Amino acid sequence: MLIRTWREQALLTQDELAQRAGLNTRTIRRLEAGEPHRPRGTSISTLAEALGLDATEQARLVTAALRTSTRPARTGVSGPMTVPCQLPTGTPHFVGRRKELSQLDGTAGRRDAGPRVLAVLGGAGIGKTALAVHWAHRVADRFPDGQLYANLRGFEPGAEPAHPAEAIRGFLNALGVPSRRIPAGTEARAALFRSTVNGRRLLIVLDNARAAGQVRPLLPGAGGCLVIVTSRDQLTGLVTAGAAPIVLDPLPVPDAVRLLARRLGPARVAASPEAAGRIAALCSGLPLALAVAAARASTHPGFSLDDLAAELHGAGNRLDALSDEDPFADVRTVLSWSYRTLGAEAARTFRLLGLHPGHDIDVAAAADLCGLPARRTRALLAELHRVHLIAEPAPGRYAQHDLVRAYAAELAETHESPAERHQAECRLFDHYVRTAASTGRFSHCG
Ligand SMILES: Nc1ncnc2c1ncn2[C@@H]1O[C@H](COP(=O)(O)OP(=O)(O)O)[C@@H](O)[C@H]1O
Ligand SMILES: [Mg+2]
Repeated sequence: MLIRTWREQALLTQDELAQRAGLNTRTIRRLEAGEPHRPRGTSISTLAEALGLDATEQARLVTAALRTSTRPARTGVSGPMTVPCQLPTGTPHFVGRRKELSQLDGTAGRRDAGPRVLAVLGGAGIGKTALAVHWAHRVADRFPDGQLYANLRGFEPGAEPAHPAEAIRGFLNALGVPSRRIPAGTEARAALFRSTVNGRRLLIVLDNARAAGQVRPLLPGAGGCLVIVTSRDQLTGLVTAGAAPIVLDPLPVPDAVRLLARRLGPARVAASPEAAGRIAALCSGLPLALAVAAARASTHPGFSLDDLAAELHGAGNRLDALSDEDPFADVRTVLSWSYRTLGAEAARTFRLLGLHPGHDIDVAAAADLCGLPARRTRALLAELHRVHLIAEPAPGRYAQHDLVRAYAAELAETHESPAERHQAECRLFDHYVRTAASTGRFSHCG
């Protein structure tokens, strides 16, 4: 119907339009009659060009054509259509995460008016991408209009986070919209994207988002689509708007050992189960660290797991032993991606926290450690918390993952002068003496 109206407005006969668009007249007749037909992305664009459509009309044409294209499956007519399949390969050694997988299943099953948004959140290397991609493959067949994937590069070194407009262009292209039909401004692009996906059932994976603002323009307007976002940020803006948060913790030891067994072969782990358990613990259940440790073990088949566990033992060497030639498989590099996004003061706070000997710290102690007012320190801790370089296990108490703290300590060693470190340690010591005295614990001393 639409095509007929536009053709008549353009004062073209079916034959003339067919000739201009490089299609045959029968195709035009079938499209005008709304008969099931699967136009290729290129035929839609040549048709739009031949009809002289603007961007909004083009979006309507794409939507109409794609709606028609989902009918043939039921009528048995086959042919090409633009169904993107952009999911990267899932991790072949995926283990555990049963609770999170059922959380994803549960939320995905909800019938919401708007798009369903799932936010997989957690620190560097905890396994967000692995979980999102693994689950997306499991449910892909529920999304007959395809799957879109974009790495939003939220925390990569030397790389700007992806601009939403750039990501939308990639999606529109994948959906068959030619570049010359894509408007320049982010808002216009986002509007075209929403029109294009309207009424379609797509699975959209937005990996490694920097912040909620980067994600918003990439959300479809209505239901039918399902979006999975992963981020080291807490994406508070999205969660308060209804996204379901799924927060990842380190793998429990049995799953961590299973991960090693999947990567190294069950025989090697069965030969030294106790050492495998120690490696799992030394890697703090962090899948990335486990993957790096396993990679090291598998490139040294002569190494026993006991040798590796011994090498990993000793907190000071932990990160060195895990480092790898490949920068993306190096825990230090992964952590540095988050670290480099910090402002100068937050970065200093992070380094100094590496000098703190305990597992967790409160705002007052952190403030004295850094020699800053408590209010400022709270804001800096919140900044670290946002990028998951520190956790807040209880309100006002902050804790760092072992590997993260080892990394912070290493940075303190290399970036803070001995005098700075000494002063920070003295301030912290004074702080604990003062608080202990005020609670009476040191009263017998004097
Ligand atoms: N559940 C899992 N089972 C097996 N390997 C995993 C699992 N989760 C993560 N990994 C592996 O750990 C590494 C880091 O995971 P990734 O998903 O990239 O972390 P993140 O996205 O949180 O930074 C990858 O090599 C990944 O394959
Ligand atoms: Mg990731």
